[in-house]
Amino acid sequence: MNRFDLQPSFVFSPQPMYMIGTNNEDGTPNFCIITWLGFSADSGPCLMMSIGGSKLTKTNILREGRFSANMITEDNLWLADYFGTTRGEDGPKQAIPYTLERGRKVDVPVVGESHWIYECRVKQRVPLDGADLFLAEVVNIQIDEAYRDMDMEHIELERIHPVVYSPYQYYAAKDKLGEMGEWKQHFEGAEAVKSEPEKAV
Ligand SMILES: Cc1cc2nc3c(=O)[nH]c(=O)nc-3n(C[C@H](O)[C@H](O)[C@H](O)COP(=O)(O)O)c2cc1C
Repeated sequence: MNRFDLQPSFVFSPQPMYMIGTNNEDGTPNFCIITWLGFSADSGPCLMMSIGGSKLTKTNILREGRFSANMITEDNLWLADYFGTTRGEDGPKQAIPYTLERGRKVDVPVVGESHWIYECRVKQRVPLDGADLFLAEVVNIQIDEAYRDMDMEHIELERIHPVVYSPYQYYAAKDKLGEMGEWKQHFEGAEAVKSEPEKAV
């Protein structure tokens, strides 16, 4: 395959999308978007996310050590877009109606319009040059009752309609492509690799 080299920058794709909810100092809520986000597990499930520069969200997390991560789906995308393109330091984000709810195990604001919400407590902060990396324990997950029948070890993404971020654009993640481990049936009759791959410089 012919490929060209791209100088690494902030441009990565595709990325998951979450509205991050925090408490302001006066107890009012603040939400923004974070897409530098992923999951891992140690002694329990963890959420990893990176927040660049100075943001009210970061100030709030540094002060309280807790936040909610509200999954962005097709039906709450434009509310999220509003939260992600306005700065909490410029004033409360109240231009668009939404339902404010609370975490059940962690005292954080959550978005009533989100179907899938992680309530998180920060375990570790790694200060970097221009950003901070947060590793947080997932303490509780709130899931829309509409998905109660779903096998949570076999999540049916096509029912949830998550939005995927590709720099400056939003995409739907819709089609299921297959089951883990069924690779053999996709390579029936293919010949095994014969040549040695070229070594990286
Ligand atoms: C689609 C989208 C993705 C974003 N992803 C991140 C991110 O991963 N990390 C980050 O630090 N800021 C990210 N931002 C920027 C913040 O959401 C934005 O600066 C917001 O205004 C911060 O709100 P706050 O000042 O109320 O904390 C993203 C914004 C958008 C619109």
